[in-house]
Amino acid sequence: MFELEKFDIKLETEFIGRNFIYCDEIDSTNSELLAGKQQYKKTGTVLLAEKQLAGKGRKDRTWLSAKGLNLTFSVLLTKDILSEININHVNLAASLAVASAIENLHQIKTELKWPNDVLIHKKKVAGILTETSIKGTKVERVVVGIGINLNQIVFQGDFNFPPTSLKLELGTNIERENILAEILNIFEELLLQLESKPQMILNDWRAKCQMIGDKITISDDDKVKTGIFYDIDDNGYLLLKKNDLIEKIHFGDVGFV
Ligand code: BTN
Repeated sequence: MFELEKFDIKLETEFIGRNFIYCDEIDSTNSELLAGKQQYKKTGTVLLAEKQLAGKGRKDRTWLSAKGLNLTFSVLLTKDILSEININHVNLAASLAVASAIENLHQIKTELKWPNDVLIHKKKVAGILTETSIKGTKVERVVVGIGINLNQIVFQGDFNFPPTSLKLELGTNIERENILAEILNIFEELLLQLESKPQMILNDWRAKCQMIGDKITISDDDKVKTGIFYDIDDNGYLLLKKNDLIEKIHFGDVGFV
């Protein structure tokens, strides 16, 4: 059972998580916040579900997470705070927030995999799906959905990348309330920084991505490209170097070679 009081004591934000909605079961926290219902209008609204019946992953995959053991939640950002912010930056900031929260609370090193996976010992501990709703030509709502494997120790199904959990890596039970509050505290700080200092976040992201400089594969549907992970650009896109050419990659799954 998620203990709201424990979470509340640790939450130090101005707006993220101040409207906090907890539910037992839902199809997908992302889909629910994207639908734009009245109770979910406030920027910073967080919707947490103990179980998602149709949890979504990137590239139309499903996100499976055992009931009550992990964290599956979404954060709503509305147009009032988005006007100056690049959505790719929000995406990178979310992965940095998750990685930093894990490292702040537990003695373990994390690594980031483009665009926004969080890894421990080369296995995926968290994934992020950022979705938008558009009105006319304007982004109206951005929903940042985060799934973190905390206390699950058995993973079944097909995974494009091997999964792990904090419990598997640390051998102890993980308190969910603490880590959720820490993620939201850091995420809000990073979002505020993004308006004036996006370069700082891009650099922090680079520093936590050990694959920069490595030979990688990048796959999108059936197409697989190989090259050197040269860098990310100012918009957070991956720059893939092949011979003397640098190609900008917008989507795809990065793999080790
Ligand atoms: C990925 O790595 O493929 C992204 C996974 C994102 C999963 C989270 S869980 C909470 C939120 N609601 C969803 O339906 N998906 C995201």
